[in-house]
This record gives sequence, structure tokens and C-alpha cells, in this order.
Amino acid sequence: MKIGNLNIEGHTVLAPLAGITSLPFRRIVKRCGCSLVCSEMVSVKGLLYNSEKTFSLLQSDPEERPLSVQIFGSEPCEMAKAAAFIERQGMADIIDINFGCSVKKVVKTGAGVALMQNIANAEDILRAVREVISIPLTIKIRSGRDSSGTDAFRIAQMAQKCGVDAITFHPRTASQGFRGKADWTLIERLKPHLSIPLVGNGDIVSALDGAKMINQTGCDAVMVGRAALSNPFILSDIESLLAQNTDIADADRLSGKDSPVNSSKSLNESISGQYCKTRSSDEIFSVMKELLSDSVEYFGEATACKMMRSRLVWFVKGWPGCSTFRRDLSNIESMSQAIRLINEYQNSFSR
Ligand SMILES: Cc1cc2nc3c(=O)[nH]c(=O)nc-3n(C[C@H](O)[C@H](O)[C@H](O)COP(=O)(O)O)c2cc1C
Repeated sequence: MKIGNLNIEGHTVLAPLAGITSLPFRRIVKRCGCSLVCSEMVSVKGLLYNSEKTFSLLQSDPEERPLSVQIFGSEPCEMAKAAAFIERQGMADIIDINFGCSVKKVVKTGAGVALMQNIANAEDILRAVREVISIPLTIKIRSGRDSSGTDAFRIAQMAQKCGVDAITFHPRTASQGFRGKADWTLIERLKPHLSIPLVGNGDIVSALDGAKMINQTGCDAVMVGRAALSNPFILSDIESLLAQNTDIADADRLSGKDSPVNSSKSLNESISGQYCKTRSSDEIFSVMKELLSDSVEYFGEATACKMMRSRLVWFVKGWPGCSTFRRDLSNIESMSQAIRLINEYQNSFSR
């Protein structure tokens, strides 16, 4: 896929997830195999007011590049200033603008999904940003006010005219949050109206789902969010499924289901498992240790340990003894304590 002048090898993108897709997590997913990673959303106001916390979100590492940095805001001048600054500092390979966040605190400032309802301001922002940056510019949208997708189609076509280089579409309405299911048919309907790449997003829980989305909708790449939290290998599994030229419709029939949300995760995963490499528990434990040590380096030991109390367990959800492991992790205060617990749990599998 080519986004502007940038060649992206592959078809998978790690979604921006506020509070989660910080540098340590992005690095892990990149190492597991993923074409493009995105920062969590960065406040343009925070950047312009020199907020230390905002700046920390912009830390990057050559290993994870190319990197898409997502910004949010509502003032064209501020958005352009922030985007130009990020480009000048070499902090991103792509600037993405958030048109999809439905959190009240963001929407009431006119940012996020509110931009989809104010097309004039959205256009001013896109023109202002496009004028000052030369790296690719992308946007991430939702369906809009209602499930017809009219807002999305209007914004996407306007964005293309303004020189936006790719669009990510999460087909849920503004008020839906993460409830209900993503309507993939809207991705399929939008695709023929665009000459720039379209990235589909929403409810991919297995490698098979990822391949199915591309197969069914014709989108150029898929973005995965929540499923990567417990399975950072999902993106590389999608790539290998696509590379094998598997008959996706056939694999899908084998799963006996036709929708990503209705399908049982385990059944779906077992079908994906026929085509994708099975990971050993040792591989998973080594990812957990890498995430822990990278997080300690990035956030400091106290903060990282607090985060890891809930996050490490995501990787072993449903495994035997996982609830005891979860309970033990809930008190960790040091990296050595966490490593000891991981090793103990890991050893319980080799006995
Ligand atoms: C905890 C959390 C944080 C999120 N943060 C962002 C964000 O910063 N920017 C954004 O555009 N979308 C954000 N999203 C939406 C995701 O990028 C994605 O569109 C959504 O989760 C649907 O994809 P999935 O079904 O693969 O998770 C967030 C979602 C979650 C669950």
C-alpha cells in the first residue's frame, strides 16, 4: 500500500489506543510483525502549551518506524502549527487527524467525531494542515451521526479533494461508542468512491476476520485495536493468511459463521490456526517480559508496575491458572517481583 509517497510493506495497521499504544506497546507489536503503528491521540493544545505529558507521547524509536502520529483538535491554525512542528522534529512519518473520538471531553471542544458534523471547519483544518506538511496526511473517521454512513461518505470525499492521502474507517456511529457491531458493508460501499487507500477497522478479533474484511470490503489494509492487546501477533497472522492466498470464503464457511461479531472467538481462532503459525507459551512469556522491561525503561518502575498489574494478564486470558496469576500480579511493585511471578507461571507449563 502506498500512502502518499510512503511505501507501506503489508496490509496491517495497529490502531491508536489512548493510554495503551505508547512506545513500549508499539515496539512489541512491531516486533511481532505489523506494517504500520500509530501513536495514541495527541492533543494539539497540549503540544502548543508545551505539556510535558503530551510531549512524552511523541517519543519514538527507529525500530518502530514508519510511525503515524495522530493529533486531535479543532482550530485550523493550531492543527497546522502542531502538524508542522511534528514534521520538523522528525517525530512522524504520517500525520493522522482524529475524526472519530466520541469521548465527551473531546467532542465538546469541537474535536474528534464533532469534526464530522462541522464539514466547513473540517475542510479548513485539512487544507491548513496539508499546506504546511509534506509528509502524508491521513484521517480516521466513524460512520457519523447515523448508521447510513452519509457523513462518512461526505467527509471522505471532501478529504480526498483536500489532498488527504488515506482514510481509516471505523463504521460505528458517533453515539455507538464501541457498542453493537461495526458495519463492514459501509467500508465496502465507500471504497469505490475513493482513489486513495482505505483502511478498514472494527471488530477484527482473529486473523481470519482481518483477511475476511479485506476480502469482503476491498479495503487496502486493516487496522486492529483491541484484539492486539491480548494477541500482538494478530497483525502478522493476518499478513501470513493473506500471503498464502487462502480461499478466505472457504475458510469462513468452515468456521460456520458469517459475521465477525457473532462468530465465536475460539472457533474463529482455531480456523485461523490452520493457516497461521501457532505460538508457543514461551514465545508469549518472552513478549510479556519484553513489554515489562520496555515499560519500566519508558515510564519508570513504579508507573510501569502499576500498568502491568492488569496488562500482563491480557496475554494469557483463559489459560490454566490464569486467575491465580492475575491475583498475584495485582500487587506487583517492582520489575524483579513481576519477573519472578512470570517465571513461576511459565514454569508451571513445563512441569
Ligand atoms: C481504549 C481505547 C482507546 C482508543 N483510543 C483511540 C485514539 O486515541 N484514537 C482513535 O482514533 N481511536 C481510538 N480508539 C478506537 C480504536 O482505534 C478503534 O477504532 C476501535 O477500537 C475499533 O477497532 P477494534 O475493534 O479493532 O478495537 C480507542 C479505542 C479503545 C478501546
